[in-house]
Amino acid sequence: MGLFGNQKQEKEKLPAPRHIAIIMDGNGRWAKKRALPRTAGHAAGAETFRRIANYCRTLGVEYLTVYAFSTENWRRSQEEVSGIMKLLHSYLLEALQDMEKNHVRFRFFGDLTRLSPELQELCRKAEQISSQYHEVQVNFCLNYGGRDEIVRAARAFAQEVADGKRQPQELTEEAFGKYLYSAEVPDPELIIRPSGEMRTSNFLLWQSAYSEFVFMDVLWPDFGEKDLDAAIAEYHRRNRRFGGV
Ligand code: FPP
Repeated sequence: MGLFGNQKQEKEKLPAPRHIAIIMDGNGRWAKKRALPRTAGHAAGAETFRRIANYCRTLGVEYLTVYAFSTENWRRSQEEVSGIMKLLHSYLLEALQDMEKNHVRFRFFGDLTRLSPELQELCRKAEQISSQYHEVQVNFCLNYGGRDEIVRAARAFAQEVADGKRQPQELTEEAFGKYLYSAEVPDPELIIRPSGEMRTSNFLLWQSAYSEFVFMDVLWPDFGEKDLDAAIAEYHRRNRRFGGV
């Protein structure tokens, strides 16, 4: 390699991170700009999810975690909530049909008990049938909240202490991770939030301790492959030191 590096190599894309997480934000504004109902924005957002999930696979991303419905999203109108649930329902039906072809593993982070029994059943089936696949994993955050996840984990550990199964001093950061929805999933290296908002909105609070956040101005339905490339390039420009020097 010459003094200024290998030009060809520098132009080539750097590898994608192992785990990318995305807050799929801006569907409502996208719809409003077009004088469409908010549900049309979510439908367009679901299409973007399909396209970006495929692209992640091409790039060799092993884990893709998406914020599909938060614990706060129940405050939206009944029409909007049921629109999002319908989109999830049809996506999961399709995913179950294509499972043998696609080999994608599905996990669901969140309290699913508030979802309809049909949707719960689809989630359970998708998780169970796909547990044999280990190439790519999609984690859907559904009725998910980062604080809620931490409180539930703390409660589960406290219960084991109360039952005499554990000692309080056994709780380490590593041990605590096993009580979270994300048990056995490595933390995301990169978290992307499109739509111009710059906050975490209760997403992966524990897991994002050392993640690189990339905030982008594009609305989620307009988010394309080139935007993902740009976010990955930005991630590589950052110097990740994990508190070291
Ligand atoms: C945030 O945008 C988005 C949501 C609350 C829902 C995300 C859901 C989907 C993309 C569909 C899920 C289905 C599949 C198959 C992935 P917003 O509504 O808050 O947008 P706004 O801030 O512009 O109003």
